[in-house]
Amino acid sequence: PGPYETILVERKGRTALLTLNRPKALNALNLQVMNEVVAATEVLDRDPDVGCIVLTGSEKAFAAGADIKEMRPQGYMDMYLSDWFTAWDRLAQLRTPTIAAVSGYALGGGCELAMLCDILLAADSAVFGQPEIKLGVIPGIGGSQRLTRAVGKAKAMELCLTGRTMDAAEAERAGLVSRIVPAGELLAEALAVAETVAGMSAPVAMMAKEAVNRAFETTLAEGVRFERRLFHAVFATADQKEGMAAFAEKRPPEFTHR
Ligand code: CAA
Repeated sequence: PGPYETILVERKGRTALLTLNRPKALNALNLQVMNEVVAATEVLDRDPDVGCIVLTGSEKAFAAGADIKEMRPQGYMDMYLSDWFTAWDRLAQLRTPTIAAVSGYALGGGCELAMLCDILLAADSAVFGQPEIKLGVIPGIGGSQRLTRAVGKAKAMELCLTGRTMDAAEAERAGLVSRIVPAGELLAEALAVAETVAGMSAPVAMMAKEAVNRAFETTLAEGVRFERRLFHAVFATADQKEGMAAFAEKRPPEFTHR
């Protein structure tokens, strides 16, 4: 894949690591970054040797938001006709599990990008917020919806209306992030979690992700029915036979990822 100018893509075992790389702009997410992240993750998503994708930024900034300088001159017709930011939605369609490893600023589009990932790990230095209102705009990559689902109306409304940011501890208490890690250990921890996920059965991990995500889209009864269908379906996999045989034989499973 590539060549890419604004991101770095590395492979470590069954994990792919994607690093946002516009350090001078604190990884501001311009359209080139969007197109490269989406293209790269879609290539990785189709690769059977990739079982998990980690997205990260720099120590100072995961991403300080959408690129304000790029947006500044745009008018309504520019935004509408180019369907500005809609490509980001494709990250939510990836089947491979994704992990956001967030250190430093995750503001505006940066917070939204982190929320597009399946697991959100935060360094103790992480700062989250939707400060768009201070620029005279509102979130545009799903922040008003995903933040509200993650932390509830009370905090989401306050953050979106005042532009106030949350530190890592508040974000964890509010349920936005799964865990906080010391900044110096963030990447190693994210890669370790990724390798754990990537070591599971790939189709079963995809189904687990699908099932959890369905909770945000449907009623409880429909969601449970959906889960039950997938639960029955995993018994068609070789990995179910291997996983349960390994338990009975008191040995680690060796999944074939099918
Ligand atoms: N867009 C474009 N450039 C940005 C940027 C952004 N979102 N955030 C930072 N930069 C640039 C700065 O302009 C600066 O560039 P120059 O050296 O050329 O001036 C460089 O990155 C370093 O930034 P600062 O000097 O501001 O660094 P700091 O440490 O003093 O402050 C910060 C850090 C508090 C994060 C500050 O940069 C900031 O407030 N950034 C903007 C945050 C923001 O409003 N994000 C929301 C954007 S709108 C959005 O995301 C819409 C949406 O929902 C999709």
